[in-house]
Amino acid sequence: LVVRSSQDTIVIGLAADSGCGKSTFMRRMTSCFGGSPKPPAGGNPDSNTLISETATVICLDDYHSEDRFGRKKSGLTALDPKAQDFEMMYEQTKALKEGKSVDKPIYNHVSGLLDPPENIQSPKMLVIEGLHPFHDQRVRDLLDVKIYLDISPEVKFAWKVQRDSKERGHSVESIEQSIKARKPDFDAYIDPQKKFADIIIQVLPTQLIPDEKEGKVLRVRMIQKEGVKLYDPAYLFDEGSTISWIPCGRKLTCSFPGIKFQYGPDTYFGEEVSVLEMDGQFDKLEELIYVESHLSNTSAKFYGEITQQMLKNSTFPGSKNGTGLFQTMVGLKIREVYEKLMQKEVKPMV
Ligand code: ADP
Ligand code: G6P
Repeated sequence: LVVRSSQDTIVIGLAADSGCGKSTFMRRMTSCFGGSPKPPAGGNPDSNTLISETATVICLDDYHSEDRFGRKKSGLTALDPKAQDFEMMYEQTKALKEGKSVDKPIYNHVSGLLDPPENIQSPKMLVIEGLHPFHDQRVRDLLDVKIYLDISPEVKFAWKVQRDSKERGHSVESIEQSIKARKPDFDAYIDPQKKFADIIIQVLPTQLIPDEKEGKVLRVRMIQKEGVKLYDPAYLFDEGSTISWIPCGRKLTCSFPGIKFQYGPDTYFGEEVSVLEMDGQFDKLEELIYVESHLSNTSAKFYGEITQQMLKNSTFPGSKNGTGLFQTMVGLKIREVYEKLMQKEVKPMV
């Protein structure tokens, strides 16, 4: 690969429904750059922006063109493209990519109003995360890497119950109701964007236990597009072959229902992809090193870096299963794309 000239800002798009692990993914990714993003100092305490040394993460909710009260009148949901200001999203993403600063609105999740804008300086890495990063073609074309977190309805429900019932006191019925109410607009406007992604992390119920739909054990697939200019897919054992692997045994402790990896070529919306899959969960995270030794093209800077990252962030949700593993692997991939585009080396965190 030859990259002729470096650019000033790399722009990453991260799409997912709310409550689908975007902030967890962000924390894993920025950890590969050695930072932990924080809200802007001295600004609006309800700002949705996060800033680390390298990255600025903008939440696309800030481009809602209608606030909560406007939506009540118009009958539009927050998922409807008609309730977003794509013109401003495009202008500001473009400006930030060109090194300029912008005054970006703030959607206040507490009051439901649009607060006075905050000034955002052009970062080295800009992440735009939210419901519609790939909806508008002009915005989409500004993105250097596009990631979609595709959480199956069963798992989404389990996570929402976990958070909204156990942590926020909502009833299971009301959570079910709100998911149902979102579904038509989710299917119409959010889900179709996944075909544009370079990498999709798909989270499904396990196949290792018949009829398990509680979301406790997960089958996670990392779908990687082939032929993406800056991205070389990671693989298991032998590139391009089809493999099913149960690593449990002498080198990897597995309790019921075990762990199963799969790898192979596939198609996704008519495009060639390679898919790495993990079903089940680790008993002892440090034994991940055994799995890591069979992975190639991972963009890790040294053998053991994936395991080290996973151990470092072991308190984050999903650390024992494929969500944590693949989010970490995507984080390392993004670091490599960053290095290629910016022609700058990122020191590994040891
Ligand atoms: P978002 O930023 O998309 O709203 P978060 O990263 O804040 O999502 O995650 C929302 C909630 O979903 C978490 O508090 C946690 O309960 C659950 N969750 C997210 N990712 C995982 C995961 N990989 N495994 C289990 N639960 C998860
Ligand atoms: C959903 C969307 C958010 C949006 C919010 C607004 O949760 O996922 O992106 O900002 O709705 O709804 P609200 O409750 O603030 O009117």
